[in-house]
Amino acid sequence: MGNAIFTKPELAALAALRARFLDGSCAGGGYWKSENDLALYDASFGERIGWKWDAVLGELHARGWRPAAKNIVDWGCGSGIAGRRVVGAWEGFESLTLTDVSANAMRFAEARARENFPKVRVRMKADAADAVAGSLLLVSHVLNEMDDDAAHRLIAAARRAEEIIWVEAGTHADSRRLIFVREKLRGEFDIIAPCTHAARCGMLAPENAAHWCHHFARVPSEASRDARWAQFGRELGIDMGTLPYSFLVLTRRGTDTADMRGFSRIIGRPRDEKGHFDVLSCSEAGVEELMAQKRDVPELAKQLRKGRAAAVQRWTREGRRITGATPHDSAD
Ligand SMILES: C[S@@+](CC[C@H](N)C(=O)[O-])C[C@H]1O[C@@H](n2cnc3c(N)ncnc32)[C@H](O)[C@@H]1O
Repeated sequence: MGNAIFTKPELAALAALRARFLDGSCAGGGYWKSENDLALYDASFGERIGWKWDAVLGELHARGWRPAAKNIVDWGCGSGIAGRRVVGAWEGFESLTLTDVSANAMRFAEARARENFPKVRVRMKADAADAVAGSLLLVSHVLNEMDDDAAHRLIAAARRAEEIIWVEAGTHADSRRLIFVREKLRGEFDIIAPCTHAARCGMLAPENAAHWCHHFARVPSEASRDARWAQFGRELGIDMGTLPYSFLVLTRRGTDTADMRGFSRIIGRPRDEKGHFDVLSCSEAGVEELMAQKRDVPELAKQLRKGRAAAVQRWTREGRRITGATPHDSAD
């Protein structure tokens, strides 16, 4: 972000954008009034969303997964952060289609993508439903702005994609919306992440109503030391140390070969209690509250304390007690 400090008018513009994101009055994308708003968003809220994409893409890289589609559609592109992160993540994409209800947003995203990736064919399209066929569909922080009709149109278009990477905020409401999408699409797609299974989402069990499927991305260390980010957090009341997100990665049924059977995923941030961690764990068996005693699994406890434990693990258990943990990336 650099060390130049935001001016008062810039902070006011960011605060106004944020208020519209939070109060749900932003349907229709009419809030993108100017290129300046988009540039400010791109360097602040957008960049924070970029860190969530980095976490998702990092996990996919660690899994050795890559999309087969050569054409990308970024649906509800805003300033275009998702498309740019994904084009930069793998070689070989041929085109990027940007779509949004806001023409200002599409224009901004198109110019940035062209500047960054001159070899990729970049275009904007107000109606991109046809372009989704056979593509890698990206959706980022859009669902809470959509009414039911718009969400159903998006889900109908998504059914024609080859692969889908969908990232939303890590709130209870946004995670629950994404679970709705998962349930709609899981008949036609294999789930790459976050789930280790294709069964009905365990969060939908009545006893799990208070939980939600969310994860935490890392804030880059340069940003933690940057005066402008500190000002951004302070003035807008944003906790710069925590970056929750929810996500879903799908590929057309039958194309994924990775076997996640027997693995579980840690949900949210395990709670550090005296002598143990409370771990919310999701697997084919459902969502369960488990306990990792530090003396039983010292290495896991150390990783949990540092916030660095692998999210996907194979547990050995005695009832609710975790007695052994093998991270997915070292399980072969
Ligand atoms: C919070 S912004 C997120 C932008 C971008 N995807 C990101 O992650 O930074 C939501 C975007 O969705 C767009 N949007 C809202 N409703 C939409 C709809 N029905 N169809 C397409 N885009 C929509 C808005 O114009 C806005 O650009």
